Amino acid sequence: MTKNHREQAMKANVYINQQQEKVKNTKYRLNYHMMPPVGWMNDPNGFVQYNGEYHLFYQHNPYAAQWGPMHWGHAKSRDLVNWEHLPVALAPSEYYDNGTIDDHGCFSGSAIEKDSELYLLYTGHSIERNPMQVQCIAKSRDGIDFIKENQNPVIDHFPKDGSKDFRDPKVWEYDNQYYMVVGSNKDGKGKALFYQSSNLIEWEYRGVVAESNGKQGDMWECPDLFPLEEEHALIFSPMYGEKNEKPIIIFGEMDYKKAKFSQGKSMLLDYGHDFYAPQTLIDEKGRRIMIGWMDMWFSKRPSEEDDWAGAMTIPRELTYNQNGKFVQKPIEELKTLRKNHHQMEGFDIDGVQRLPDLDGSATELCIDFDIANSDSSVFGLQLRCSKDRSEKTMIKVDTINEEIIVDLTSAGKGESGIHKAPYRSNTNGKLNLRLFLDTTSLEVFVNHGEQVITNRIYPHASSNEVDLFAEGGKIKVLNVDKWSLRSVWK
Ligand code: FRU
Repeated sequence: MTKNHREQAMKANVYINQQQEKVKNTKYRLNYHMMPPVGWMNDPNGFVQYNGEYHLFYQHNPYAAQWGPMHWGHAKSRDLVNWEHLPVALAPSEYYDNGTIDDHGCFSGSAIEKDSELYLLYTGHSIERNPMQVQCIAKSRDGIDFIKENQNPVIDHFPKDGSKDFRDPKVWEYDNQYYMVVGSNKDGKGKALFYQSSNLIEWEYRGVVAESNGKQGDMWECPDLFPLEEEHALIFSPMYGEKNEKPIIIFGEMDYKKAKFSQGKSMLLDYGHDFYAPQTLIDEKGRRIMIGWMDMWFSKRPSEEDDWAGAMTIPRELTYNQNGKFVQKPIEELKTLRKNHHQMEGFDIDGVQRLPDLDGSATELCIDFDIANSDSSVFGLQLRCSKDRSEKTMIKVDTINEEIIVDLTSAGKGESGIHKAPYRSNTNGKLNLRLFLDTTSLEVFVNHGEQVITNRIYPHASSNEVDLFAEGGKIKVLNVDKWSLRSVWK
């Protein structure tokens, strides 16, 4: 039996168009974040700039708001802010002479341009096949219509250092060679397996390029290894048993000859609940830009009742600040979303004070606090508040423990955890918070991207008041800028 790829992709596209007309309830839809037209979305895939346009693919089940047969959804953009949905790029389908390959799903992977064609490298997943995960290729000239390679799978078995969990190929070019990392595990340790190729079809296994130090997960999903200024950085999403945890970045030196990444300092990329499987690209301006799945396995997802689930974070540029510290900066282009600017300067807060000028749900807020000249031990904001304050999302700055705390205990439907990130105020005792609020999300950038905390929140649409508060003394607020952010979706 042969299931034709084109037929399966067309079937998905027809279904998506029909469903989209039916979906009436938009209460949880986001204003300026990428999300599926209908159905389910997880990992970003194939994030690339091709013929000047940014392409973002993603793990997609068009047929339900739950994970299922994985397709690759597809969207493109000129500026990473305004997106256009495109037809599904990959659908699970293939039965080859030598057995099944991706009948159960086209799992995560990446994209690269070669000879004016766009190549997608993805994991074919089949529960009928042994091993069940193999690496495959599809290509396109127009960047829209993809044909699966006849030679699939291009890697038909995991190597001796890996296991049946063998997925999420991330490919890049370096010194006229193609390299790839694939996530795997063995002996209870997550691993990034390293491959080399001169043509993207034939791959030589070079060894384990990096692995868990014993505390970084027993399976690595979605590894991404890339040059970052003088060094290289490795990103991965660790699993501990069946449980997924927060993505990690490790900085180090990459030795391509020895196929080894020397693992130096590491940190969490995001301290929130809803950040997983991030992927980066390098663009024509030379920026390393990352986008992540703004959701998490086994979360509560109230939008399921409206037949969709999952979204992407705003794109962040990975770079170093003037003090040589690694930061994640919301990309400059996001400023084009801004309208209705409000500014407030130089005032103190003691107790709780509502600031009506700051109200909103699709909003960017940028605030500088002067901790050195204040005596409050805990201060911060209450966002998305209902009139009676029974619903609110709290951001607290605990100056004693030097922690930023996002408290979702009363944030509405959805997950209700407490999420903490460490911070250090700068040498003058100042702290900057930059917040991106959307209908059902909150991304907090601490000190211009030194730390990030990302969460989905599902408050009532009418809960959009904002308070500033200070406990045990006053807090000096140096400056507040607030913008409403326009919608990029019709
Ligand atoms: C990460 C992940 C990947 C896999 C994909 C399946 O979230 O588990 O390892 O390829 O999702 O949808």
